[in-house]
Amino acid sequence: MTPIEREFVERAARIPHHGLGLSVDVYQPDLFELAGELHRRGLGYGYLEIFKAAPAALESVRRRLPEVLLAYHAEGIWVTQPHPERFSPFHAELDDTAEQLRILGSHWLNHECAAKQMAGYSFGTYLPALFTAAGAEVTAENIAQAQSHLDGRCEGRHGIAPLFLLETPPLTYVGFGDLSMAEFFRLVTDRTPCGVVLDIGHLWTVYRYTGEWRRRSLTAFLAELLDAFPLERVVEIHMAGLAPHPSVPLEAGPAGEPPLRPPLWIDAHGAPIPEVLADMLAQVLEHDGLTHLKGVALEVDTKPIPTIVEEFAKAHARFGPKIAHALREERDARERRDSIPPIPASLARPARRAGLAEQYDCYAGIVTGRAKDGLPVLGQDASALPLYVEHYLPYEILEWGGVVRDMFPATCRSLEQAGIALDGFVQFWFREPRESEDSGRAYDFFLLKITRFVEFVREALPAASETAGREAESLRAGYQVACEQVGAEAS
Ligand SMILES: [Fe+2]
Repeated sequence: MTPIEREFVERAARIPHHGLGLSVDVYQPDLFELAGELHRRGLGYGYLEIFKAAPAALESVRRRLPEVLLAYHAEGIWVTQPHPERFSPFHAELDDTAEQLRILGSHWLNHECAAKQMAGYSFGTYLPALFTAAGAEVTAENIAQAQSHLDGRCEGRHGIAPLFLLETPPLTYVGFGDLSMAEFFRLVTDRTPCGVVLDIGHLWTVYRYTGEWRRRSLTAFLAELLDAFPLERVVEIHMAGLAPHPSVPLEAGPAGEPPLRPPLWIDAHGAPIPEVLADMLAQVLEHDGLTHLKGVALEVDTKPIPTIVEEFAKAHARFGPKIAHALREERDARERRDSIPPIPASLARPARRAGLAEQYDCYAGIVTGRAKDGLPVLGQDASALPLYVEHYLPYEILEWGGVVRDMFPATCRSLEQAGIALDGFVQFWFREPRESEDSGRAYDFFLLKITRFVEFVREALPAASETAGREAESLRAGYQVACEQVGAEAS
């Protein structure tokens, strides 16, 4: 066993079994209503994983659910990026994270292997890591830094700092790099003692958007991925919904795809969990490489409570005993993990942050439609990329996480009267990288959208800037109140 493996095993040994739980948001749906409904139905859950929220809201959850094991879903720690301090306050984010972990008493923090800010451009949803050896090395170094920062902040209060878990990210129509997801995660875990979250729906998107579905069955794809993946590092499994995106016309699809192609689903926590994912989960739970599993969570933020309860009851009945078995088997299976072949040493090149920064710049250029190529594409399949560039991304800026027309009704009326289309805001958003104005501030897409829209109006229609400024102020004030409301209700 290497020192890195030993450190992981020691840290993992101190994490209790969490069982089958739910990964939730404190705001939507109402967490206490959900907990009450599960209780009424006699559905016991092992834990709740809580997404990053205002400290007051988290305090409220801790206070009102004193007996419940709580885990933490972090956000804004861009470990995949070559210069994570450049666009957002990496260490300040970690300080906030340490505080949130303390409030919840969490044993781990989970973060996507993805970022919403890269090369000076901000997005509303995750863009996966660049799956290259340099990308893996930099990610591992950043995770090691993050873990050491948390160790310094958290140890002493709990006796052991929560463990950093890196989650397999979703592909939204395309991915970039020359390594498979399994190879990338193997390289990261060879270099740092982090844990991993295996997200079943995200793996489905890899099957769909790397073109693997053209080459083999889902079962064969998953079997090969699991054999190559560092499964012994998997501490948690996620399962959420998948759905077509509202911005993508149903009939749309890459040219040359047969009519019986898999649907153009992407990760969607509010959508029902398709049966195909439950079958994938069953296949994963049977794999004997899964030696340090601590919990399985259905990710249900933004989902209606009746659907959550129904899906949880179903998962409980089908997987409850299997999960309990997988947790109990921890010790027996540990011996077998050395049979997983390591990634060839030739892939382990020295990290080159500067080169990687150039590649991420190219990545941002491609997904925003400003560059055509320059990066290897996962599975050499970029056929669905136009769906991202032409539909998904403009929707993200104009509708997702705040509909601009509803946020700024008076300003939008003025723009319309002046013949200025809102599409211009999308071009304005991605016109150039913006380093300085974002650094020092925690990532918040809603607040960023407000700031950027006021700037856009100042440039496109100066006569409406005062109106935009007024609407922005009232949005910010309302948002502040809404973020802390859960805490206020309890006090
Ligand atoms: Fe997830």
